[in-house]
Amino acid sequence: MQIIQTISELRNTLKTKASIAFVPTMGNLHAGHIHLVELAKKHAECVVVSIFVNPLQFGPNEDLANYPRTLEADCAKLTGLADIVFTPSVAEICPQEQSMTIQPPPIANVLCGASRLSHFAGVATVVMKLFNIVQPQVAVFGKKDFQQLFIIKEMVSQFNLPIEIIAGETVREASSLALSSRNGYLTDAQRAQAAQLNKALQSIVNQTKIGNKNFVQLEQQATTLLTKQGWEVDYISIRLSATLQPASQLDKNLIVLGAAKIANKTSGQTRLIDNVEFRITD
Ligand code: PAF
Repeated sequence: MQIIQTISELRNTLKTKASIAFVPTMGNLHAGHIHLVELAKKHAECVVVSIFVNPLQFGPNEDLANYPRTLEADCAKLTGLADIVFTPSVAEICPQEQSMTIQPPPIANVLCGASRLSHFAGVATVVMKLFNIVQPQVAVFGKKDFQQLFIIKEMVSQFNLPIEIIAGETVREASSLALSSRNGYLTDAQRAQAAQLNKALQSIVNQTKIGNKNFVQLEQQATTLLTKQGWEVDYISIRLSATLQPASQLDKNLIVLGAAKIANKTSGQTRLIDNVEFRITD
């Protein structure tokens, strides 16, 4: 496995590769990322994993400075799985003079985008740059960040990029908590409590299975329950899984997405997201 820090060295190395699968990450790798790398390996001769904490996708009061940077441990986890780990500098990927950005579609302004204002523009801009640098045939993104996955697919389609986007399933702890780098901000007790977010989403799915299609009421009930359990809920929303538009009672292929903040180790709050796809069968 090679660790490459500059764009020019990466481009030189990739020249000889017949096919490339790419997994962009911000590091602090866990089993969820490893699952994406394993998926990538099935699709190309050469697997490139980037580790880059993207400053453009953090808001002014978010955790950019404290975001865990664990390069040595990450490289140990990738040994034998990835062919190349790309760890570019902020100066090379986000130079001060760059003023052109990707403007994502309006769906980027709802759900997570409603409270994280330029988040998806920051994600899309850096992912577009990484795509242009790596030029993969295949790129793998996790379904835990479902809205991100959707926006990246839209970007690839609308900009005619010759890249196949593959979605990796969310990997969970036994408690059902979705793996996330941000779980590291939680004590063991808070981590156990964090599973309540998935349980709330799952209980909405269960309610729909027994015929309750009052989506607004289901969203409100889950919000109330989580609030009673000490969460500050950002949103709980039932949507169409294909478009992320709000769902009606006639729709079948749905997804319930949630984001909420839970108390963390430092007496602050950690924002977690999760989602469950489901199908109404009647
Ligand atoms: O999902 C992430 O870790 C990031 O948003 C990504 C796709 C690596 C872009 O910085």
